[in-house]
Amino acid sequence: MSETPQKRLYIKTYGCQMNVYDSERMADVLRPLGYGVVNDPEGADLVVLNTCHIREKATEKVYSELGQIKLMKDRKAADGGGRMTIAVAGCVAQAEGQEIMNRQKAVDLVVGPQSYHQLPELIARAHRATGERLAADFAAEDKFDALPAERQVNGVTAFLTVQEGCDKFCTFCVVPYTRGGEWSRPVNDIVEEARRLADQGVREVTLLGQNVNAYDGDGSTLARLVRRLAQIDGLDRIRYTTSHPRDMGDDLIEAHGELPELMPYLHLPVQAGSDKILKAMNRDHTAESYVRLIEKIRAARPDIAMSGDFIVGFPGERDGDFEKTLELVREVGFASAFSFKYSRRPGTPASAMTGQVDEAVKAERLERLNQLLDEQQKAFNAGQVGKVLPVLFEKAGRHPGQVVGRSPYLQAVHAEGPESLIGTIVPVRIESAAKMSLGGVLETSSALETA
Ligand code: SAH
Ligand code: SF4
Ligand code: F3S
Repeated sequence: MSETPQKRLYIKTYGCQMNVYDSERMADVLRPLGYGVVNDPEGADLVVLNTCHIREKATEKVYSELGQIKLMKDRKAADGGGRMTIAVAGCVAQAEGQEIMNRQKAVDLVVGPQSYHQLPELIARAHRATGERLAADFAAEDKFDALPAERQVNGVTAFLTVQEGCDKFCTFCVVPYTRGGEWSRPVNDIVEEARRLADQGVREVTLLGQNVNAYDGDGSTLARLVRRLAQIDGLDRIRYTTSHPRDMGDDLIEAHGELPELMPYLHLPVQAGSDKILKAMNRDHTAESYVRLIEKIRAARPDIAMSGDFIVGFPGERDGDFEKTLELVREVGFASAFSFKYSRRPGTPASAMTGQVDEAVKAERLERLNQLLDEQQKAFNAGQVGKVLPVLFEKAGRHPGQVVGRSPYLQAVHAEGPESLIGTIVPVRIESAAKMSLGGVLETSSALETA
């Protein structure tokens, strides 16, 4: 690192990968103002909480965290350490910005996910104590135009937001209200950003969007964008998330069969296995159409690892409906998955539906679902033992002499090897498997050459 930053910036990130990307970009916006990122909020000059609104628990966390940060702000002032500015960003900021300011007076400014390029101005206003300190516009376009081209990344993998917002309005979900309508970045901007990442040593990008496969920048499709990106020197692996079954176009499925750069792992949330519930969720697909879609994808890329999201206890879900979720899981077979108890979100259609499910019933269903998904995940991992997988090494392991990377299927893989392997893709013979990771040995001595 060159110069010591004059000002200490602490960013805490909640929620999805899009928030992770946004947090990095906020740091990029603030760097020219002399802010450098630190790992401890105590004594920081600026604290940013990048928040998530998806479930009640996520939102409540923000208010308790703000209580802690306020104490630090008071301590800093009392110790003569100067002012700590507190900013709340992200989806809670968008959904209930004014309420945040009312509930926690220590908050200096509030900025929504499409407005954080305005941070410097908002901070200046907060310090002058005049002018609006809440920015919650919806124009993703303005944000991307205003963000600095320079990104500071450390590591060999990076996120790249290509699409924002959602027009699907699943009846349980706040995202269409916090992130606005679907909007795609122009192809050339994305290609340029990806090139810069590759120049900085990034070997793998994950393209992000709330509905990433609805990407339609300049009339392109996600498949066409991926083909462009696959041509960039040094960029060897491409992933994308999160997809909607409805937007899984034939050309994207074909790309999975043809492009070695496109990793054989697909996060494709289904939410539930009962058509009655899927309809009430406004998902616009049935259990059957989802299963057929997976068959088609597997026909193009037989080894693809499937991942999904599930909600249990949606209003009106009976035991028989839940059994259908378990049936669907058994039929598809998931390599990994996320499952949640339905959380009633203010303003969403489902929150007003009759037939809200008891918390105890939700908990019991979640446990049963998780047990099945865990078994599948373990079985999938165990199935890799004895295979040789190309692993992109990312960092040093916890034990000396060990490096950690990822398989094409997104599993963490540990192996003995020098740190010079970081940033290279190396064949590893898998010898052991646990729920969350694999262990293996480097397959050849030529693997030790850095690519
Ligand atoms: N755009 C993505 C992800 C949205 S949020 C998609 O369409 O899948 C990530 C996951 O959170 C969702 O897939 C869903 O499983 C879960 N989720 C969203 N709203 C929820 C709610 N009100 N209660 C419980 N889980 C929810
Ligand atoms: Fe939410 Fe549905 Fe949009 Fe995903 S597709 S962000 S679950 S409304
Ligand atoms: Fe949460 Fe907003 Fe992402 S609500 S899941 S941070 S889009």
